[in-house]
This record gives sequence, structure tokens and C-alpha cells, in this order.
Amino acid sequence: MRFQTPPRLLLLLLSFLLFNIATAIVGGWTPIKDVNDPHVRDIGRYAVDRHERLTGENLQFNDILSGETQVVEGVNYRLVISANEVVGAPSSAKKYEAVVWEKAWEGFRNLTSFKPINNA
Ligand SMILES: *[C@@H]1O[C@H](CO)[C@@H](O)[C@H](O)[C@H]1NC(C)=O
Repeated sequence: MRFQTPPRLLLLLLSFLLFNIATAIVGGWTPIKDVNDPHVRDIGRYAVDRHERLTGENLQFNDILSGETQVVEGVNYRLVISANEVVGAPSSAKKYEAVVWEKAWEGFRNLTSFKPINNA
């Protein structure tokens, strides 16, 4: 009788673990623990630079607010970036979501998407 609960809990724990492993394998997104990591900031700056070059918009990189990574033949970075629109005088900070694909071993990077978010 007293052994009825623990195995059920164990099963729950095990399925939770398996679910996490499965999502990691099929390319789930994992939160970035330290968005101040120099490499992550570098990716963020790259995204803003690249966006500017592609659109002619003038943005000033501020900060990375949050981010996630996904392993796919390299790493996808999905970052929430704070930046200022510079039209004459810099505006107040706005949020953007950028996706950058990096294959570090080839020195390859590409900006997959860059869009404003929650800028009410
Ligand atoms: C880079 O990303 C853009 C936008 O998604 C895409 O059009 C282009 O084909 C990509 N280039 C490479 C080499 O993956």
C-alpha cells in the first residue's frame, strides 16, 4: 500500500524527462541562461547590423532582453533585442525579435528574420 504513490511519481518524472529529451532531439527551443554572454551579444549586434544593411533603417543596439537557441545543423538564435530607431534624434527603445542561424565551425551566419514586437 505505501509503495503505491512513489512509483507513480517516478513514472511522471520519467515521462517528463523523456519528453524533454525528445523535444531537444527534434529541435526544441532552449532558453539562453546568460543573454549577456559575449557571443550572444555578438549575435544580437550582427542581427541589428544586418537588418540595417538590408533595409537602410537606422537602429542603435541596446541590449538583449531574452533569447532561445535551437540546434539545427548549427544553432538558431531567437533573440528579443532592445534597440532605438534613429531618425534624427534616437527614439525611445523598441523591441525586436531576430532569428540568426549560425554554423560556428564554418564562420557562417545568416539573419533569418527581424521584426518589431509589442511596440504598441
Ligand atoms: C538567409 O536568410 C534569408 C532570409 O530568410 C534567406 O532568404 C536566404 O536564402 C538565407 N541565405 C542562406 C545562405 O541561407
